[in-house]
Amino acid sequence: MIPSMTTPAAVIVDATAYAQAVEDAARAAAAYYAGGSSPLDDDAYDRLARGIAAWEAEHPDEVLPDSPTGKVAGGAAEGDVPHTMPMLSLDNVFSPEEFTAWTASLARRIDREVTRFSVGPKLDGLAVAARYHEGRLTRLITRGDGTAGEDVSHAMGTVEGLPETLAEPVTVEVRGEILMTTAQFEHANEVRIRHGGQPFANPRNAAAGTLRAKERAYTVPMTFFGYGLLALPGTDAALAERLGELPYSELMSTAAGLGVHTSAGTAVPDVVVETPEQVVVRVQEIAALRAELPFGIDGIVVKADLAADRRAAGSGSRAPRWAIAYKLPAVEKITRLLEVEWNVGRTGIVAPRGVLEPVVIEGSTITYATLHNPADITRRGLRLGDHVMVHRAGDVIPRIEAPVAHLRTGEERPIVFPEACPRCGSDIDTSEERWRCAQGRNCHLVASLAYAAGRDQLDIEGLGTTRVVQLVEAGLVADLADLFTLRREQLLALERMGETSTDNLLAALATAREQPLSRVLCALGVRGTGRSMSRRIARYFTTMDHIRAADAEAMQRVDGIGVEKAPSIVAEIAELAPLIDKLAAAGVNMTEPGATPPPAADAGGADAATPAAAGTGPLAGMKVVVTGAMTGSLARLSRNEMNELVERAGGRSSSSVSKNTTLVVAGEGAGSKRAKAEQLGIRLATPEEFAALVADLLG
Ligand code: IVH
Repeated sequence: MIPSMTTPAAVIVDATAYAQAVEDAARAAAAYYAGGSSPLDDDAYDRLARGIAAWEAEHPDEVLPDSPTGKVAGGAAEGDVPHTMPMLSLDNVFSPEEFTAWTASLARRIDREVTRFSVGPKLDGLAVAARYHEGRLTRLITRGDGTAGEDVSHAMGTVEGLPETLAEPVTVEVRGEILMTTAQFEHANEVRIRHGGQPFANPRNAAAGTLRAKERAYTVPMTFFGYGLLALPGTDAALAERLGELPYSELMSTAAGLGVHTSAGTAVPDVVVETPEQVVVRVQEIAALRAELPFGIDGIVVKADLAADRRAAGSGSRAPRWAIAYKLPAVEKITRLLEVEWNVGRTGIVAPRGVLEPVVIEGSTITYATLHNPADITRRGLRLGDHVMVHRAGDVIPRIEAPVAHLRTGEERPIVFPEACPRCGSDIDTSEERWRCAQGRNCHLVASLAYAAGRDQLDIEGLGTTRVVQLVEAGLVADLADLFTLRREQLLALERMGETSTDNLLAALATAREQPLSRVLCALGVRGTGRSMSRRIARYFTTMDHIRAADAEAMQRVDGIGVEKAPSIVAEIAELAPLIDKLAAAGVNMTEPGATPPPAADAGGADAATPAAAGTGPLAGMKVVVTGAMTGSLARLSRNEMNELVERAGGRSSSSVSKNTTLVVAGEGAGSKRAKAEQLGIRLATPEEFAALVADLLG
């Protein structure tokens, strides 16, 4: 993907809005640099900062001292060690166009084109200066406000890539970024949780918090990447001069030669290219590699490589003019956790999934994110309604990192864990971190059998989930058809199956065998077809043989089946062929009573799937909505059975009233649907009037 302008400026309309924006930005920046979690994610901060800059450009006399634009590093934490050279920040660009504009302005400033650019990853960590005296690491200082930083020398031993002694006894300052790799971050959070702490939201916060923590009972490793090498007051004059003259790329190889860890050796080493076009190509290459990197980057840094160019360009108070950060879209955003869904996978793993307030990350809208497992939810202390940090890199499934605790309102609710398998209703094995349905891989079978036995499908009384589990566990049933060949003695051998239960179940199965085709079809659970679609298919084709003979074109003639659905239904029916054969062999009915058979069917020819004559019966051509409680002779019918009745009478059932509705059967307690029918002037009928209309079919 080509990283492009994803961050428009916030619109600031007046001085009050400007003051508020500066305050928000300052608070976010302070939290960011102190290693706390920022109330704004990166994109939101960038947007705000751009809005502030735009407003200030129009009102240069009203710039507030706290503004992030004029200051290094926003509002930095107090520091006490002065930097020998200011530690600057970088200006940003967000698109190839902005980058080209930057190179043009740089060329104007130095009066020549830049012909050597150094391009490397913008590491997402914290800037530090490491001082070496005669080859020995003596001090580690944060950037602070750019002129002075905090002494964090206590962390020296825990940072990989910053050797205690250099390969040569030189006095130099190495500047670079301290971060946690993904592996270090996971380890740090494990350790932190074990010590009773809240997990860090992301590697950056983890590195910031860890670097500044002085008296912790434990240490966790971090990684240093050098991106600068400069002379100190004690540096040998010849060396100091050489450092001032070296191209950036050679400064970096010098640092690496001294034993300092740099981007060299990673999948995204700094490279030198000659034109802005080549820079953009490299930016795209790095962006494409981002998801697989074992450490976080938030952009690409482009620098004029030659010392002469850098010198000519100089620096502003906030950032050098010879370098620019080409920002990549943020992969982390803060949004709210609305719900937690529990899904059961093929192997029976019961996995939580977070439903999010939609948020755009890297150009895609994210509405779901993984939540690993229940123990993880508990450890993170997540609650419904929490603001959460969502992380997405490349094509990886987004994940929820942590709740943003300070954004809590008190309205958050606990996340409820399921007590039974959400798919088949069996017990859940919670002995491991990843919960699993006690039925394991059979979960799917149990769920599909329980569904097939349900009231709106084959309506097999006495065959609830518990009994299905029993049959599956006893090895008596491996598919739907096996139910119909169960023998009396097999059932009697089961626990809690007496003579009565056995006979009742066998009788219920015998009745189920006679169910109309529409219900058998529904019981098969063909994807994309529910109860009413199954009825339409069954009524249209009238026999299973005709359904099986139908190709996608024939399937499309069924009301409500379009070009997309038809082929998948046909394919699935074909897939189910062995099961359908087995059901037929077990004596299960495969015809739809009352539907007119296709005219050419008896010829047994290619026209076998010719449609049944459409729309005969008392409700022919009518669109009927049933609402409220049925009474009289209809009292015992479920809503599904009422819909079946409508369709057997030639009508089309629907659950919502529109101007196309022709009849609304309104029983007791009918509410909004009745009101809507009245408002639209649609014919209303009581259950009794309706019963009279379809009396012939009620038998
Ligand atoms: S060069 C004068 N190179 O990004 C500053 N900085 O947002 C020259 N950063 O302050 C810095 N990776 O802390 C440079 N490869 C890299 C970097 C890098 C990360 C940081 C650095 C800088 C900040 C600006």
